[in-house]
Amino acid sequence: MTYDATRSRVEEYFDRTATRTWERLTSDAPVSKIRQTVREGRDTMRALMLSRLPERLDGARVLDAGCGTGMMTQELAARGAEVVAVDISPSLVGIARQRLPKEFGGQVRFESGDMLSRELGYFDHVMAMDSLIYYSGTDIGSALERLGRRTASNIVFTVAPRTTLLMGMWYAGKLFPRSDRSPVMIPHAPARLAREVKAHGTIADLGRVSRGFYISQALEYRP
Ligand SMILES: C[S@@+](CC[C@H](N)C(=O)[O-])C[C@H]1O[C@@H](n2cnc3c(N)ncnc32)[C@H](O)[C@@H]1O
Repeated sequence: MTYDATRSRVEEYFDRTATRTWERLTSDAPVSKIRQTVREGRDTMRALMLSRLPERLDGARVLDAGCGTGMMTQELAARGAEVVAVDISPSLVGIARQRLPKEFGGQVRFESGDMLSRELGYFDHVMAMDSLIYYSGTDIGSALERLGRRTASNIVFTVAPRTTLLMGMWYAGKLFPRSDRSPVMIPHAPARLAREVKAHGTIADLGRVSRGFYISQALEYRP
């Protein structure tokens, strides 16, 4: 599937099918035990990714690439960053805007659209939490190259790891494509992604977060 085809599936899913579910998952409202494990896993992952950035970010420009309802955006703003928060789903950007505490209003610019758009400008750091998990290795490689040209320090992002369980789900999804056209995660091995980008950057493995139904691998790209 091409980058554009994957992106329009992702947009359809987050902007229509799953908007309410995602809004609830990323709030304090009660959720099922399974979703609670996802919430906890995501909190751990956010903290792991943030640990790769300086404690204070005053004056730094940071892109929250695929910001969703803005959980990472708020943390970055609280550390003093100037944040550009972009998401392909206008509905989620609307929720993120509403949820942003007033005191951070002057530090955050929200945009609906593609994270790779050059109009977003130049950055010191880029965070892409679980927003590249549906893309192929080639798409991730070219996204890192394009973003990397406009990033001074690092791009911290996540992928679905190649565990037996996730690989099994991936093959099952290929054999029995789901009728709701929801996007399917594509598992990746860090070493293969490192080969994909070696002409323009390096990849470091930051480790895996596995909590109940949440499993994701943090990586860091440096141009
Ligand atoms: C699993 S959600 C994670 C949201 C947020 N980063 C978080 O962790 O709470 C993935 C998000 O990435 C966004 N996304 C995926 N591809 C994108 C693209 N090419 N440009 C902008 N946003 C994108 C989706 O719309 C969705 O909101």
